This record gives sequence, structure tokens and C-alpha cells, in this order.
Amino acid sequence: MTDDEARLAEERAAFEALARDGAAGTRWIAKRFEYRDATDSTNDDARAAAREGAAHGTTILAESQRAGRGRRGRAWHSPLGSNLYLSVLLRPRIAVADAPLLTLVTGLAVARACDRFVSPESVTVKWPNDVRVHRKKVAGILVEGSVRGDQLDSAVVGLGLNVHPRPWPEELRDKATCLGAHCDGRVTRPAALLAVLEELELAVDKLLLGGSSRDALVRALRARCDTLGARVTIDGVTGVARDLGDDGALLVEREDGSLTAVRAGEITE
Ligand code: BTN
Repeated sequence: MTDDEARLAEERAAFEALARDGAAGTRWIAKRFEYRDATDSTNDDARAAAREGAAHGTTILAESQRAGRGRRGRAWHSPLGSNLYLSVLLRPRIAVADAPLLTLVTGLAVARACDRFVSPESVTVKWPNDVRVHRKKVAGILVEGSVRGDQLDSAVVGLGLNVHPRPWPEELRDKATCLGAHCDGRVTRPAALLAVLEELELAVDKLLLGGSSRDALVRALRARCDTLGARVTIDGVTGVARDLGDDGALLVEREDGSLTAVRAGEITE
């Protein structure tokens, strides 16, 4: 057995144990944990679970995805054995207007999880949904919600986190990285998964508490957001990203000095 095969076998055994017992160190996240060898998209699986009444915190992890989705209809390359592909079902009491904040708060949680393995100064959030290490993407987040009135009925928080080094497709080579590349391989996928689940639980609890807990999250995001200060173009709006609004909008200062709040979009730096 090669080292890679041995590592994969150990990681699989840890995921299988989680699927059997649920996560031990959390209060509500991943108490129901489904582990699949291959699936089309864990976000689709979590949405199906939501329709069947699955509980807040239900988590689905796949070793590989046949049709992993990124933002804006892009594909999320999901090969077997190197990375984490997971979706967490939330049943949050959150206003639809605050849904963008859920993406950002997930990014903050993933960044905090990455801090446990690599130098924390190198880990940043690129607004609105990327986590980066030394300015290369290590994780992407795709939140998909279902709405009832002006509240979110359920939200599926999907995230892909690159963990072990592997050859990248040509188009990703200069843009993407993995945790293992920045800690001499001293990371396993189960350890990274537990770190993400713990941090996500804490961050979502604070978001749902609101008030000063929520304010603290937004302050932490401002400190982590590597987009602030950069010249950006987002869906036709060009200027300097000056701040994050309390709802997570990016406040862009335009040539004429006015501030435009951008709530969603894709940045070109
Ligand atoms: C992005 O950066 O564009 C977001 C990528 C989100 C990928 C994850 S992998 C697990 C979950 N299932 C999916 O199909 N997509 C998300």
C-alpha cells in the first residue's frame, strides 16, 4: 500500500465513524452526518434532505462529486481523495436581506479553521465567498437558500476546501492552493473537517444571536477581508473597496467620491 492509499484509508475510516456516531465535539452541527463515496453535488443532496424535513446541522460529505457546482453556474472540480466537499443544512431565523452575510460568515469560519493549520496572517477572505492562503484560493462557498416570506426557510451552506496537494488543471494553477502546501502536509481531511464544523457552528450561533455578537463577526470580517483597499470592478461598478456594510455589502468608492453598496457579484481586482 502506498502512503497515499494508507492516508486515504485512514481518512475514510474517520469519516465512516462520524457517519455512524455523529460529531462529538459540537452541539448541533453534523449530529447527522452522511458520507458518500460519490454524488452529483452535496448541495443537491442537502436540498433534498431539507425537503424531507432533515434537521438544522445535517451535514453531507462526499469523496468526489460528478457535478460539483461553483458560483455563477461554474463547475467545481471535485476529484476523489484530496479535498473536502460538504454541505450543511441550516434552518436559520434569518431575514432574506441578511443571506449574503451567511456566505461571508461561513468564509470567516473556514478562515478560522484554516488558522489551525497554517500561519493565520496568510489566511484571508476575498469578498464574497473565497477563502485564500497567501492570496490563492483554498476554499469556495456556495450558499443556496429557500425563502418563505422575508425569511430564509432553509439554507444549504456548501463548501469545497482544498486539503492535499494534487496536480491542478492548467486554468487553476496560478490561482488555487491547498492547506497541505502551507503546513508541510501536517493536516488530514478529518481534522480539517472538524475544525470547519466547530468554527461554523460558533459563527452561525453568533450570527443568529444578533446584536453585539453579530457586530463582532462583521468587525472580524473587516479585519480578514483582503478585498478592502483594493481597486475592484464588480458587475460594472468600478472603484476602491472601502468597507463592509453591517449587512455584508461591499462599499465601493467610485471616481466621483460616492459610495455604492454592492450586495452580490464577482470581483475583478
Ligand atoms: C465557488 O467558489 O464558486 C463555490 C464553490 C462551492 C463548492 C462546494 S463543494 C460542496 C458543495 N457542493 C457543490 O456542488 N458545491 C459546493
